[in-house]
Amino acid sequence: MIDDKTLDELREIAARYPEARSGLLPMLHLVQSVQGRITPEGIEACAAVLDISAAEVSGVATFYTMYKRHGVGDFHVGVCTNTLCAVMGGDEIFSRLKEHLEIGNDEVAVQRQGDSKTVSLEHIECNAACDYAPVMMVNWEFMDNQTPDSAVQLVESLRAGHEVSSTRGPRLCSWREVERVLAGFPDGRADEGPTAGPASVAGLEIARERGWTAPPGASAGARDDVADVPDDKQEAVEEADTSRAESETVQEASDD
Ligand code: FES
Repeated sequence: MIDDKTLDELREIAARYPEARSGLLPMLHLVQSVQGRITPEGIEACAAVLDISAAEVSGVATFYTMYKRHGVGDFHVGVCTNTLCAVMGGDEIFSRLKEHLEIGNDEVAVQRQGDSKTVSLEHIECNAACDYAPVMMVNWEFMDNQTPDSAVQLVESLRAGHEVSSTRGPRLCSWREVERVLAGFPDGRADEGPTAGPASVAGLEIARERGWTAPPGASAGARDDVADVPDDKQEAVEEADTSRAESETVQEASDD
């Protein structure tokens, strides 16, 4: 049920933006945190707060795959079956999990006697984590370098209610807890775990070892958006690109 507290929080989200309707995406996450999915009641509540039609809210909610119109498990397990993960074992993981959980895509596994939590399964598109393929996600936290066996072990630990951490550090939270964070109500744990691992900066390490550098002007000159800017500005762009790469490396080193 969308109670008064939730309505207040929906209004609070809308008030964060110069244009209230810009708050619709986090508002829909809040609906999912309260009701587990996007319900007709949740759509009506968002429409009323934003003074737009239910059809407009529905159009957004049905466009993005992170919004679910049917229930998911306490832990929503995604397996990347996009090209790189697929060839690295993602397809195999997905079919093993379907068989193990006895469900199809986008379904919730039966809660067996003794299971304390439920699990749902979905094949998902590239998570921009191809450097750790094959990758899975649990409630949008990464599980890197998985295998069919590790995937089965993972879903069994989740169903048993064991505490499980992402391979990148943070403890996995329930679907509703995570949806509340995505609505913009932080749980104070956003900085748990590293932001990049060795595989993400492997190219940079190799380039450093071998003394490779970009040809002068290459990083700015190759970009259409800066092709016509004067030389001194292009230098500034190159400098910015270099400092960004440097700061990512420093961040990675400090995480180690
Ligand atoms: S293909 Fe799976 S994360 Fe990119």
